[in-house]
Amino acid sequence: MSAGGALSIRQVTKVYDPEGVHVVAVDNCSLEVASGEFLVVVGPSGCGKTTLLNVIAGFEELSEGEIRLDEGPLALPGKQVGPGAERIVVFQNGALFPWKTVLENIAYGPVVQRRMAKNEAQRSARELLRQVGLEGIEESYPAELSSGVQRRVEILRALINEPRVVLLDEPFRGLDAVAKSVMHQFLLDMFERTRCTMYFITHDLDEAIFLADRVVVMTTRPARVKLELSIDLPRPRDHRVLGTERFLKLKQAALEAVHEEALKAFQAGERELA
Ligand SMILES: Nc1ncnc2c1ncn2[C@@H]1O[C@H](COP(=O)(O)OP(=O)(O)OP(=O)(O)O)[C@@H](O)[C@H]1O
Ligand SMILES: [Mg+2]
Repeated sequence: MSAGGALSIRQVTKVYDPEGVHVVAVDNCSLEVASGEFLVVVGPSGCGKTTLLNVIAGFEELSEGEIRLDEGPLALPGKQVGPGAERIVVFQNGALFPWKTVLENIAYGPVVQRRMAKNEAQRSARELLRQVGLEGIEESYPAELSSGVQRRVEILRALINEPRVVLLDEPFRGLDAVAKSVMHQFLLDMFERTRCTMYFITHDLDEAIFLADRVVVMTTRPARVKLELSIDLPRPRDHRVLGTERFLKLKQAALEAVHEEALKAFQAGERELA
């Protein structure tokens, strides 16, 4: 469905409030994400993961460096409307309009961003729901759905525009283990269908390794890449892979790297308090 979607993050630095408190959230961070790759970013709390995602999304201006999408520069912050705006989408929890039906919610993006006729947009929304086995909820309102189904609808809403890159910041936080595993299967199924580039942040290492082609572990703040782990588990994956030796080995490597960085953050905090 999608073509392209290669992200090149080049020596990106983000400083909040350079004149005042001066928080360096991301420091000289470089990262390449291939077209159609499922990249998962992990790292200690407060290290700068969301900041980097917000810079990629154009919600925050970078202080130094450059981000390119398929060899072109990214649109300037605040300028991500109009043609091309749908190249990068940010998945947002709770972003469904409560007063619109499921069908109207999913068809909203194509109508507004791609100027598609309402009938046509609703036809593709209906087809998408059918493909993923969610037919029957077209006329429901979000409040009538379970939170798991709401999130699936949110994912469809993000993907219907056929973006090249989808940015997801802890999208399944707060779901119980069973609901999470349903979401994982759903997201991987959508990934197989669309092959758009996924940039996914989580604290859950099982989730990270289960989903990813590559896991990137960030350093404690300011964020930089500490470790890149190639996840060589065959696809399609199901939850039986979680018990395999290879999975556990990869998880251990990620855990050690995150733990080391979290410890540094903890010690730095102690020094600040002393
Ligand atoms: N708007 C802002 N102004 C000033 N500082 C900010 C702002 N947003 C974030 N920060 C600071 O930047 C640092 C990185 O924050 P960020 O939210 O990117 O971390 P994170 O890795 O996403 O954390 P978590 O895992 O808890 O979500 C933190 O020290 C945070 O307090
Ligand atoms: Mg965050």
